[in-house]
Amino acid sequence: MDEIYLDNHATTRTDPRVVDGMLPWMLDEYANSGSTTHAPGRRVAAKLDECRGNIAKHLGAESDGIVFTSGATESVNLAILGVALHPRQKRRKIVSVVTEHRAVLDPLKRLERLGFEVIRLGVETQDPATIGMLNIDEIERAIDGDTALVSVMLGNNEIGTLQPFSALSAICRQHGAILHTDATQSVGKVPVDIVGIGADLLSFSSHKFYGPKGIGGLVIHPDSMSIPILPQILGGGQQQNLRSGTLNSVGVVGTEIALTIAIETMVEETEHVASLRDLLWSELKKRIEGLRLNGPLWTGPLRGQQLHGQQSSRLQPGPTDSGSHSVAGLHPARLPGNLNVCFPRVDGQSLMLRVPQLAVSSGSACTSSEPHPSHVLMAIGRSEDEARGSLRFGIGRFNTESEILRAADVLGEAYAELSRFVA
Ligand SMILES: Cc1ncc(COP(=O)(O)O)c(C=O)c1O
Repeated sequence: MDEIYLDNHATTRTDPRVVDGMLPWMLDEYANSGSTTHAPGRRVAAKLDECRGNIAKHLGAESDGIVFTSGATESVNLAILGVALHPRQKRRKIVSVVTEHRAVLDPLKRLERLGFEVIRLGVETQDPATIGMLNIDEIERAIDGDTALVSVMLGNNEIGTLQPFSALSAICRQHGAILHTDATQSVGKVPVDIVGIGADLLSFSSHKFYGPKGIGGLVIHPDSMSIPILPQILGGGQQQNLRSGTLNSVGVVGTEIALTIAIETMVEETEHVASLRDLLWSELKKRIEGLRLNGPLWTGPLRGQQLHGQQSSRLQPGPTDSGSHSVAGLHPARLPGNLNVCFPRVDGQSLMLRVPQLAVSSGSACTSSEPHPSHVLMAIGRSEDEARGSLRFGIGRFNTESEILRAADVLGEAYAELSRFVA
């Protein structure tokens, strides 16, 4: 039985070009980059400087504006706890969104227990084009002079919604609140430039864009380098004391290669995954009556909102122009490889059990073992039953048209069998 991997939000296959590029930095150049007293250590340190510079450039930052971590969870923890708990932090309010990943929600719970006021904003549930998007008027009402930090994800890991960053950034600046974005699902998938989107801090993870697992980073806006951040991991004082521990040099090398490939091929890759996403959606709709989309509809115009750091018109589907943020096939409201659908009257877990050859998910990877229905689907107005009857498909670089057609076939058949048992 050939397996079909459609869970590219949970993680991606490490690109073989990335693995090839990493091998010499395990087998030959394995010295500790901190050991600058000898030549092997200095060679690794020089390579890391080069990679750091390239990664920073790709994301709009300066070389010293990248802190490498073990992944997005650690980066987000460093941003949220590091900003809120710094002794110079006098503000006591944090603003975020209900649809965030647990990497954000759990540190927020801790801050709440420590006496911070945490406001979790709701999202759009009605307008099909902007489902899951936060409401700028609401955020304007929530942020004030006591707001230390605003944390809003760029692209949602379950329903793919991209948030309206320029408007958000302007409000944060006006009140002197620090803006962090969990860009884990967006880096390498859509144009992400920390200056363009106007965030102070940005978290990413390499294994989401065909890089290795166990490495990610916190990016700091060039104008925000003096933000006080309390380190969360103490030890050897590496990375300007912000994150102690021997640098994962081979991970940094892999990240640089993976990000460079992702950025250089973004236009073609967006077309590829968006067309497979469209195919899956249309093939599933043919087979399953009453199938519903979870998250924003990606066809049709948006109402002139500022989205994802630029005018929506610049990211509308259509021919690529010369603008650095324009990618053909990319709709400004939704990540191109994301499809999340609600199968009427059946349970998503039961459906998955009937299609063991498909790797899909019924929620985020970190919560898929939990009995609770997805908090993201509940936040966009799905009932518990609807949320339990939903599956998330993450389409990626290595998927093919024939896989998508096969996936639609087996899901159609499994659904027909399963729905015979329900009234
Ligand atoms: C939006 C989002 N944030 C954070 C994480 C955690 O990433 P990592 O596995 O690198 O810790 C994930 C992973 O699923 C994610 O999708």
